[in-house]
Amino acid sequence: MTKHYYIETMGCQMNEYDSDHLSRILEDSGYLRASEPEQADFVLLNTCAVRAKAEQKALSRLGRLTSLKRKNPRLLLAVAGCVAQHRGAELFERFPGLNLVLGPREIGNFRAILERARSSGTRVAAIDAHGTPTSFWGGFDYFQHNVKAYLTIMEGCNNFCSYCIVPYARGRETSRPPEELLKEARSLTLQGVKEITLLGQNVNSYAYEKIRFPGLLQAMNEMEGLYRIRFTTSHPKDLSPELIQCFGRLEKLCAHIHLPFQAGSNRVLKAMKRGYTAEKYMDLIGELRAAMPGIALTSDVMVGFPGETDEDFERTLDLIRKVEFDNLFSFKYSDRVGTPAAKMEDKIPETRKLARLERLQELQRKITLKKNKELLGRSLEVLVEGASKKKTGFTGRTSTNKVVNFISDKRYISKLINVTIKRASFNSLWGELTFP
Ligand code: 5AD
Ligand code: SF4
Repeated sequence: MTKHYYIETMGCQMNEYDSDHLSRILEDSGYLRASEPEQADFVLLNTCAVRAKAEQKALSRLGRLTSLKRKNPRLLLAVAGCVAQHRGAELFERFPGLNLVLGPREIGNFRAILERARSSGTRVAAIDAHGTPTSFWGGFDYFQHNVKAYLTIMEGCNNFCSYCIVPYARGRETSRPPEELLKEARSLTLQGVKEITLLGQNVNSYAYEKIRFPGLLQAMNEMEGLYRIRFTTSHPKDLSPELIQCFGRLEKLCAHIHLPFQAGSNRVLKAMKRGYTAEKYMDLIGELRAAMPGIALTSDVMVGFPGETDEDFERTLDLIRKVEFDNLFSFKYSDRVGTPAAKMEDKIPETRKLARLERLQELQRKITLKKNKELLGRSLEVLVEGASKKKTGFTGRTSTNKVVNFISDKRYISKLINVTIKRASFNSLWGELTFP
């Protein structure tokens, strides 16, 4: 009888990349995708631990999935991602129905691990945090309907920012060999993928023998059939002048950078162990804008880090006003067990964190809307991704990563077209084909 699998993914794009490859391995082993966990013989939850709320959500979802075992005792239940890595075998005690705990660095061994769990019936915790990231290239057709794809180029992080769980969950920085990455990218373009986003916790510090990140970007830029390259996430302290010069020099590199600043107060940045000041961050923004006028900037920021005063928070708002980001991902600081910040004194009450977050988000909403409205009447190049959610038209993104919806027809999917912007809201733009 045919077996079915179901995978649910939480967290960042690196988890999405891993889930795609777990799916591909399962499909190679004869499994078919199920749309509901109730119909599956193998269920996997890929989890995130970066903030307390994400971890709680993962644990409660896992609890609900475990209850599926009552109806189907032969179901294999697995947990992957950062919660799996961080909590390890302890999860078996909390969730007696769980069969498999799979850390992010073990995905390359998934085929063998699955077989072990299936044949022996014993529980398996595979959580080696030092394993090498896996190679996924090959003559497969999993991505043949995708216009865009992710490509993880490095795993882990060596920075140990004082609030962050990632170095504990994803291990130390390990870069994948460039030949392997180019082969994987080639295989994606042969399946029709037009845009690749290179992923890593800190892509700027990609290094494999003599190849650094700008060298890898250069090689990707020469790839036939590829229209666009993006990358995320960057760390301000590792943003080299060579990398900044890639913008404007490499024609396939999109006009957008995600550069988390986290806080605008130098005192807080120091306590976070970020390795730069607000002034240095502003200098980098100036250099990026000089290298590529009109480059879109997005960032991550936190409010309510231990000891953050009203004055510190005002510095964060000042920085947001000065830079005018295209968009911001903003979070309330939350304690992560095992990190230095969790042990710091002078924690900020939740109500104050929330009030700060709301003020910050209100400011950013105005800036995003203003920036989107500046695009009214402009003709922008859009990579068409497919039908829009409302099904009344099509959707794509600009090089600056803004969503554009428009009326058109199927023949433009996976093509670059020009759209004249007629309406602009906070979330998206709406336009008409410039040359219908
Ligand atoms: N609490 C709140 N937000 C956090 N982030 C990372 N760690 C924490 C934490 N302990 C945020 C940072 C990071 C983003 C992915 O999540 O802003 O850039
Ligand atoms: Fe979450 Fe970070 Fe793990 Fe991604 S790498 S799943 S953001 S904790």
